[in-house]
Amino acid sequence: MNDLTLMIFGASGDLTARKLIPALYQLHCNGFLPQKAAIVGVARREKTDDSFRAEMQAAVREFRKNDYTDELWQAFARRLRYAQVDIESDSAAPALRDRIQSIESEEGLSGNRIVYLATAPELFLPSVEALDKAGLVHPMEQAEKLRVVIEKPFGHDLESAQQLSQSLGRILREKQIYRIDHYLGKETVQNLLLFRFGNSIFEPMFNRNHVDHVQITVAESQGIEGGRGGYYDKSGALRDVLQNHVLQLLSLVAMEPPASFSGEYIRNEKLKVLQSLVPGRSGPVSGWAVAGQYAAAAIKGQRVKAYLDEDRIPTDSRRETFVALEARIDNWRWAGVPFYLRTGKRLPQRVTEIAIQFKLPPLNLFSTVECEGTMCDLVEARPNTLVFHIQPRESITLSFSAKRPGMQYQVQPVDMEFDYQQSFDVAMPEAYERLLLDVIRGDSTLFTRSDELEAAWKFCDPILEAWENPDHHPELYAGGTWGPKAAQELLSRSGRHWYVSE
Ligand code: BG6
Repeated sequence: MNDLTLMIFGASGDLTARKLIPALYQLHCNGFLPQKAAIVGVARREKTDDSFRAEMQAAVREFRKNDYTDELWQAFARRLRYAQVDIESDSAAPALRDRIQSIESEEGLSGNRIVYLATAPELFLPSVEALDKAGLVHPMEQAEKLRVVIEKPFGHDLESAQQLSQSLGRILREKQIYRIDHYLGKETVQNLLLFRFGNSIFEPMFNRNHVDHVQITVAESQGIEGGRGGYYDKSGALRDVLQNHVLQLLSLVAMEPPASFSGEYIRNEKLKVLQSLVPGRSGPVSGWAVAGQYAAAAIKGQRVKAYLDEDRIPTDSRRETFVALEARIDNWRWAGVPFYLRTGKRLPQRVTEIAIQFKLPPLNLFSTVECEGTMCDLVEARPNTLVFHIQPRESITLSFSAKRPGMQYQVQPVDMEFDYQQSFDVAMPEAYERLLLDVIRGDSTLFTRSDELEAAWKFCDPILEAWENPDHHPELYAGGTWGPKAAQELLSRSGRHWYVSE
């Protein structure tokens, strides 16, 4: 794109201030934005260009502390504009048309447009309809001149996701829609594919012959942060994180090698994984999926609220803040291998990890010890485990057994580690930076296709349905713990336990 009009709908929201504008600022500083590019914040509140700039300056100062300078900011701020538009009102289309046309003509922009929908989900479709009515959607033969980025959640179940895709399809082509999952923009997540398909020693091990089970954890220590209660209580942990981020991680870990490293081929392979995803056990949902909700607790001497006492949460809410489940991928490669998935708020630490636990050697010839100082205890033999530490400590560790020095054959588990910070002396780009640049370049590899998303909903729908039942209540867990007891039992019943990195 030689020039660009980038509109952010939902410009008064948290995502714009915390992630989008800081990422665009960084792209500007690194010379990735076209020379001529206007960034237009679109929202309902009354603001001038200058007051919008002042708010965004405060945000960049806070969230890009190390990269902020007044000089760079001034140059970036010239790109920022504001459009006051109430998407739900009749005046939305004319207001949008007048403002965008006048900005484009003042700045000499040719109508290459990116629209980022960072609004509440119920405004996704009305926003696109308003764009259409405003004449800002180009005719089909110029479709490449408009790209629309849609935040999650895309629908709240399979049916609503299909409906949304269909309604958007009346105005946009599929290739104009970029459904964003910011996990795919994380360096460590992109490295999963390189690790698997750019090395020859690991990939032959990624299958049912060698892998005992796989665990994926997306844990957060924070609770429901200010202002998010309204959204979260409609959503819950399953829709907010598992249906998208966790299942995307799963599809990258489990997919077959793509025919070539390009968007459609990779997404075809990810889709097949999601289509093969089935419950870990037959029978009712309660036998393979666990819902939890955090209760009040004292964490490191500090009282933290129960979910039910958080802002904008109904005091009788049955919404889950934690989910753990056992799934299987019913295909040739993974048949019979359990995939344990969990995510939750108010857990002991913020950590995202994928642990692949391999089978034990067929015969245990040695005694395994665990040593602290000079004292060693005999323990059970430890399987090899490969762990992708996605965040916050970005690394990969492989644990294996070594002979403990001494006169006996004693095995001690040890780790081999690759650490991003130590190996690469470069700053890791933020996920949103990478993904916004991909949209500008028109590369949709790291975005979710509608069929992938629908397959993910199809897997989640029966769980959601079971949890809608008025008799269902999430099990309480104290804030600062690893979720309800039932989540531990999900693994312990087959002699396994959750991996927790130290
Ligand atoms: C978002 C969820 O998609 O991901 C949030 O809506 C969650 O609830 C966040 O906190 C986690 O993202 P990250 O990058 O901080 O792991």
